[in-house]
Amino acid sequence: MKDYTYKKYATDELMEVINVFNVSPESRAKIRAIVDQDPVQPDAGNFFRYYNPNSRTDAFEKMVCEKTGSKYALAVNSGTSALIAAMVAAEVGPGDEVIVPAYTFFASASAVVVAKAIPVITEIDETLTLDPAAVEKNITSKTKAILPVHMLGLPSKMNELRAIAAKHKIKIIEDTAQAFGGKYKGKYLGTLGDIGCISLDAYKVIGTGEGGLVLTDNEWMYTRAQSFHDAAACWRPDRYARERKPGELFCGENYRMPELCAAVGIAQIRKLDDINARTRAVWKQLRAEVKLPSCAKWVESNDADGVCGYVLGILFETQEQAVTAIKANIGLGGLASNAQGVRDWHVYWSWEHILEQKTVTREGCPFTCPHVGKLPAYSQDMCPKTKNIMLRLATTRIIPTYDADWAAQFAAKLSADLKNLFKGA
Ligand SMILES: Cc1ncc(COP(=O)(O)O)c(C=O)c1O
Repeated sequence: MKDYTYKKYATDELMEVINVFNVSPESRAKIRAIVDQDPVQPDAGNFFRYYNPNSRTDAFEKMVCEKTGSKYALAVNSGTSALIAAMVAAEVGPGDEVIVPAYTFFASASAVVVAKAIPVITEIDETLTLDPAAVEKNITSKTKAILPVHMLGLPSKMNELRAIAAKHKIKIIEDTAQAFGGKYKGKYLGTLGDIGCISLDAYKVIGTGEGGLVLTDNEWMYTRAQSFHDAAACWRPDRYARERKPGELFCGENYRMPELCAAVGIAQIRKLDDINARTRAVWKQLRAEVKLPSCAKWVESNDADGVCGYVLGILFETQEQAVTAIKANIGLGGLASNAQGVRDWHVYWSWEHILEQKTVTREGCPFTCPHVGKLPAYSQDMCPKTKNIMLRLATTRIIPTYDADWAAQFAAKLSADLKNLFKGA
C-alpha cells in the first residue's frame, strides 16, 4: 500500500528554519544532504503544544520553573501578552487602579488599559524603579495592584513594596521584562510578587524572537492566565468540559507561544545565568574602577548582587552636564539617553495614549467607565521627580562578551574623558 502519511512540516521547513540562522549556502547544502539521507519524522501534533507529546513549550516551561523556583510558568507570545494575562489572572478590571512607574516601557501602562483598568503613573527614585513613598501616596480604595518594573535589569525595592501591598491587601504584578535572571536578596526577579512577567523579545537578556512568560506560585492565578491565553481551551485536561469552578472559563485571547519559539527558549535559558554573571561582573568592575567627577554619581542599586548589569547608569547633578557627556562621545562608544528631547515610549511624558486618553473605542473605555473613581491628573508634568532624574541620566551598554580587560580599558578611558570634560566640577 502506498504511504499516505502527510508531513505538513518536513525537510523544506527545517531548511527554512536553518536559514533564519544565516547559515552559508555551502553549509546548508551539507545539512540538506545529511537530512535527506535520514528524512525528518512526521511532525508530531503540527507544532501545536497541546497535541504534541514532545512539546517544546512544555519542556521550556519546566526548565523555567526549575531555574526560577516558580511553581508555575506559562509561556506566551510576548511580554505584553504576559502582562495582560497577569492582569486578568489578578482579576484586575473595570474601575480598578494599578500603580505603574513613570519610567518603564509603555507596554506596562498599556497592559493596564487593555485589562480595562486605570494606570496610576507614579514617581521613581534614583534607583530608576518605583519610589515606595510615592506608591503609598497614590494608593486609593480603588488600587488593585502595584506593578514594579525592574528597569535596565535593576531590582526594585521589593521588600518595601511588598510591605505596602500586604498592608493594603493588594497584589504585586512584577514587570520583569528587562530583568530575567536578575535577583533581589537571592530570589529571582519575577518570583517576588503574586505574579511575574518576562519578555523574551529580541532585545531582552535572553530571547525567543518574540515571547514572554508568566510566573506564579498561585494555582488559581495560573489557571486564569491559562484560560485567558488560550480561549480555545486546549490547555484544559478536558477541553469541552463545563467549568470546574466559577471563573475558570471566559472569553480570552490566543497568546500561545509557538513551538518554534519555545525550542529557541530551551537553548537560551541554559545560558541565562552565565549571561547575567558576565555582565554583572563587568558592571561591578566599572563601578569600582571608573573615577566619576564630583558632579556625577552611579545610579543607586537596591541589590548590587542581583542586577543583570547590561546597562551602567550615571546620574549627573544637572541635565546640562548629562547632555555635555552624551554629546562628547566619551568612553568607548559614547553614553546614551532615551529622555533628552526625543519622543520615547520609555518615559511617561511621551505616553500621549494615556495622558490624552486615546482609546480603541469612541466611548473612551476604560477612562469613561462608570466604575472609575477620580482619574489621575494626567499631564506631562505629573511626575516632576522622574522627569528630573531621567534628564540627568546617561547610560552605556555592557554586552556578555565584555571581560575584565575590556572593563579595565573602558574604565581608564571613561575616567580620563570625564576628568577632561568636567575639569573642576
Ligand atoms: C519594561 C517592559 N515591559 C514590557 C515590555 C513588553 O515586552 P514585549 O516587547 O515582549 O511585548 C517591554 C519590552 O520592551 C519592556 O521593556
